[in-house]
Amino acid sequence: MVRLKIHVCSGESESWDTIWKWLWFTREVWETEYWKEEKKALKPILTLLSRLRVKSVLDCSCGLGYKTVLFAKAGYEAEGSDASATAIKYAPKLAKDEGVSIRFFHSRYEELGRKCKRKYDCVWSDNFDEINTYGCLKTSARSIYSVLNPGGKLVFTAPPGGDLEKDD
Ligand SMILES: C[S@@+](CC[C@H](N)C(=O)[O-])C[C@H]1O[C@@H](n2cnc3c(N)ncnc32)[C@H](O)[C@@H]1O
Repeated sequence: MVRLKIHVCSGESESWDTIWKWLWFTREVWETEYWKEEKKALKPILTLLSRLRVKSVLDCSCGLGYKTVLFAKAGYEAEGSDASATAIKYAPKLAKDEGVSIRFFHSRYEELGRKCKRKYDCVWSDNFDEINTYGCLKTSARSIYSVLNPGGKLVFTAPPGGDLEKDD
């Protein structure tokens, strides 16, 4: 008989740590396809950043840093931050494997004002739209604003139309 031990993560933070640990371990299986998807996802963003005359980008929900690496390879001064300590442990290894040197640091959006060592022309996030309380949205937006250069931009993804109303 095989005994399975089931562990339920205590919250979002432990869940992301678990996901990134597993994905790092298995990356040989999915990475080639993921690079393709990430390049496709980033194409319109790079066009937008070029139009906005952005030179520096903080990828503030970078995960393992795939998009951060692509920002750096596209010539941007790129840094990556994330609330997951596990993601931030592995992200520099991915960057090194890809031949780019990037500063990654552990930070929730709300802590960026304290943890960033510089300001950026753009803060990018593919997770900002997942913030689920108004209080957190306000503190996160304030914190991001504090690390932007004058005229800097926050660029984030939004869920595709579907059932959402404009007010959502
Ligand atoms: C969809 S994943 C990021 C994927 C990654 N950008 C990529 O291209 O592979 C979302 C990330 O947002 C991070 N995250 C969630 N809430 C956060 C917060 N409050 N502050 C910073 N990062 C957060 C999670 O730890 C997770 O790594």
